[in-house]
Amino acid sequence: MAIQWTRDLETGIALIDEQHKELFDRVNKLLAASSEGRGKEEVGNILKFLEEYVVTHFADEEKLQQEAGYPEFAAHKRLHDAFKNDLVKLKEEFEASGPTLRFVVLTNKIVVDWLMKHIAQVDKAFGKYLRKA
Ligand SMILES: [Fe+2]
Repeated sequence: MAIQWTRDLETGIALIDEQHKELFDRVNKLLAASSEGRGKEEVGNILKFLEEYVVTHFADEEKLQQEAGYPEFAAHKRLHDAFKNDLVKLKEEFEASGPTLRFVVLTNKIVVDWLMKHIAQVDKAFGKYLRKA
């Protein structure tokens, strides 16, 4: 199962939309590699890239929000921080057990569900604000 990018997920901010698409692509690679039973090292490398990419992406979003004086900045940043903590838990599970079925299920729950919801609601709201500003 893969996640599909659709235009209704666009925030209207080119940099952010490009990064979201890249995130989708990487998440799909992670899901595919772990579902197809590829080695721990290969799946681990994808997971590591994803974690680093998320940090960069969140930092870029937060910078744009601060520059624009976005009133929901603090709340939005809290959501990012909570997600980063969840990613740490996912990584711990991976390090303990490798790319198991449980890891795939957890990835879907922690990463896929969150990403779709966050982009569709919270990031789009920020995009709307920024385009008006
Ligand atoms: Fe965000």
